[in-house]
Amino acid sequence: MSRRQGHLHLTLVLHPMGIHQAGWAHPKSVFGNKLSDYVHLAQLAENARFDGIFLADGPSMISEDMEEGSRHPYGDGFEPLTLLSALSAVTSRLGLIATASSTYSEPYNVARQFASLDRLSNGRAGFNLVTTVSTIAAANFGRTHPPHAERYERAGEFIEVLEGLWDSWEDDAFIHDRDEGRYFDPAKGHLLNYSGKHFSVRGPLNTARPVQGHPVKVQAGASEVGKRLAARTADVVFTVSQTLEEAKAFYSDIKQLAAGYGRNPDHVRVLPGVVPFIGRTEEEAQEQFEYLQDLLHPASGVAKLSAAFGLDLSGYPLDGPLPDLPATEASKGMQELLTSLARRENMTLRQLYKHVSGSFGHRMLIGTGKTVADQLEEWYHAEAADGYNIMFPYQPGGMEQFVEHVLPELQRRGVFRTEYEGGTLREHLGLPRPDNRHVLRHDPARERAVATAD
Ligand SMILES: Cc1cc2nc3c(=O)[nH]c(=O)nc-3n(C[C@H](O)[C@H](O)[C@H](O)COP(=O)(O)O)c2cc1C
Repeated sequence: MSRRQGHLHLTLVLHPMGIHQAGWAHPKSVFGNKLSDYVHLAQLAENARFDGIFLADGPSMISEDMEEGSRHPYGDGFEPLTLLSALSAVTSRLGLIATASSTYSEPYNVARQFASLDRLSNGRAGFNLVTTVSTIAAANFGRTHPPHAERYERAGEFIEVLEGLWDSWEDDAFIHDRDEGRYFDPAKGHLLNYSGKHFSVRGPLNTARPVQGHPVKVQAGASEVGKRLAARTADVVFTVSQTLEEAKAFYSDIKQLAAGYGRNPDHVRVLPGVVPFIGRTEEEAQEQFEYLQDLLHPASGVAKLSAAFGLDLSGYPLDGPLPDLPATEASKGMQELLTSLARRENMTLRQLYKHVSGSFGHRMLIGTGKTVADQLEEWYHAEAADGYNIMFPYQPGGMEQFVEHVLPELQRRGVFRTEYEGGTLREHLGLPRPDNRHVLRHDPARERAVATAD
C-alpha cells in the first residue's frame, strides 16, 4: 500500500460519560455533567494535539416516554455553544465544534453565535449542521417534523444564508476612526438581502467577520441528498463506515462530488467515527468491551435501536432476526447501514442493539495501542479516511488510554502531529480561509487571478 504524505486529523466527541450507552454506568466513569469534567477532557485533548472536540446535539430528549428515556444518559447536559464558549477560555489551540439544527433554528441567530464563538476563541469554531432526525423535537417548537427532502431543502438555504451573513463585513471594516467619528467604514459592510423559499434575511450580521472567515463547516448526511450537501458546502464530513470497502467508496464519492461542484477535493476532510477499546493486551481490550456490553439494559438497547430506525421495535423477539421494516422519514442512511449490517452478519435484534448501543453504529476498534494504530493508519493510507472522529466508550478512562497507548504509536510512525502547526481550526485541518465574496467582487486583480486558476 502506498503511503500518504502529511498526517491524519483527529476530532473527538466530547461526552463526559462516554459514547457507549452503558458508559455512564461504568464504575470508573465520571458522573453527571459538570463544567470541571469537560474542562479536564478538553485540556487533555489539547495537550494530546487533537484537531478539535465535537459536541453532538438535538433540541429534545431522546425518547418521548419518561420511563423509556430514563435508561439513556441524557437530559442534564449543556447547550453546546454555551459550553464551548466556556471551554474557549480554558484552551488556546483546540478546535471547538458544536452542532446546530437547520430545521429548528433561525440562520441569523446561528450565524451570530458561531461568529461570536470563532472570535472568542481566536478562530477555533466549527459548525456541525444537522437537519435533526428525531421527530420528538417538533413538539418543542409547536411544529410538525418536516419530511427528509424538505429538511435538506431548508438546510441548503440555511447554509447559503450563514455564508452570506458571515461575509457581511470585510475584515478591515471596523476602522474606529476617532478623528472622523466613524466606527466602521460603511463601504465595507454589506446587506445580504436573501430571499428564498424558507428564509428571508436582510442582514448584515451584527458581529464582525469570523477570524476564520467562515467557521469550519461540518456535515454528516449519509443519504444521497445529505452527501451532496456535504460535498457542496462542508469542510469536514463525519461519517459511519464499518468496512474498508464501504469507507473507500464513501470517501471517493464525496471527493468526486466535491470536484464536480468545482471544489478542491483536498479541502473536504472525511472523518469516519471509531470507538476504541484499548487494553495492554488483546484479551484485556476484549474484556473491557464485554464488560461494558454486559452493563447494557435490554430496554435501553431496544429504545436506542428504535430511535435509529424511527420505529418502535420493542414488540419483536430479541433473539430473532431483524424484521423487514418499512422506510421511515428518520435517518435513511442509518437505516440502510444497519439493515445491511444485520443481514450481512446474520445478527439478531439483541446483537444489533448491542452493536448500536456500543458505538452508534460506528466501527469499533478493540485491541492494543499498536493494533488500533495499525487499523487507523491502514484506512488513512488506503484513502478511506483523512482522519477520524474518535468516540470514547466511557470517560475519562477511554480517552486516557487512547492518549497513553495509541497516540504515541501514531506519532512515532509520523502519521499524527506532535505540535500544532497553526492557531485556528482551519489551520489544523489544512483548509484555506474563505475569501469574502464582496472583496472578490470589488478587487478586479483578484477576480482575474481566481478566473485564471480555474
Ligand atoms: C458522527 C456523527 C455525528 C452526528 N451528530 C448528530 C447530532 O449531533 N445531531 C443530530 O441530530 N444528528 C447527528 N448526526 C446525524 C446526521 O446529521 C444525519 O442526519 C445522519 O447521518 C443521517 O443522514 P441523512 O439524514 O442524510 O440520512 C450525526 C451523524 C454522525 C455520523
